[in-house]
Amino acid sequence: MKTVLHVGCGGNDIRSLPILFQDGEWEEIRYDIDPAALPDVVGRLQDMSLLEDGTIDAIFSSHNIEHVWAFEVPGVLSEFRRILKSEGFALILCPDVVSVAQAIIHGYLEETVYESPAGPITAMDILYGYHASIKEGNYFMAHKTAFTADTLARHLDIAGFASSLIARDKLLGLHALAFPTVLSKDAAEAIASRLQPPVDALIEVCSYGIGST
Ligand SMILES: C[S@@+](CC[C@H](N)C(=O)[O-])C[C@H]1O[C@@H](n2cnc3c(N)ncnc32)[C@H](O)[C@@H]1O
Repeated sequence: MKTVLHVGCGGNDIRSLPILFQDGEWEEIRYDIDPAALPDVVGRLQDMSLLEDGTIDAIFSSHNIEHVWAFEVPGVLSEFRRILKSEGFALILCPDVVSVAQAIIHGYLEETVYESPAGPITAMDILYGYHASIKEGNYFMAHKTAFTADTLARHLDIAGFASSLIARDKLLGLHALAFPTVLSKDAAEAIASRLQPPVDALIEVCSYGIGST
């Protein structure tokens, strides 16, 4: 079995992971700062010392890295790199602040920009965190930083990821696939095509460190 660390899982379990992880070959470790999410490991993104170097096959981080301060981001991504096996990968989803800015420019700050399973989402929620949860006292849901495709690519590079593919989705989000090693284009695309949605079905893909064959 391969291990996927489901970082900042919230109440979600393996059924909410991309189909890539649902072929029966993956064992999920659920990791979250909030004990109320009943994770397998209660821990912070900023300090993942409960997990050993090079022991994890994949990291799935959906809407977590915007929950730490900007100065903590390099440490978080370095922790992701440290615990991954060299042939592993990280799949990181987070808001795209460029798309959010465009929504605001077009008059959508407090209006719904899309419906999520938890309820309607506004640009304000994407910038500052899901207000309905924060209103109930869950301050783990507050957002403290933001990313563009370019800044996320730069942070991944600095953290020691040798190659990455980053795409925008239609819900004002970024999807980043990051690899500790330099991958061939074919190998990177083989993984990307098994995501849901596949990265090549998303928009404005940028990449670095991906080989030409
Ligand atoms: C917006 S929710 C995302 C939940 C789930 N991944 C999803 O996409 O539906 C953010 C999650 O990150 C967790 N979180 C926030 N700050 C964290 C931190 N510093 N370390 C670990 N988890 C954190 C929260 O407890 C929450 O479960």
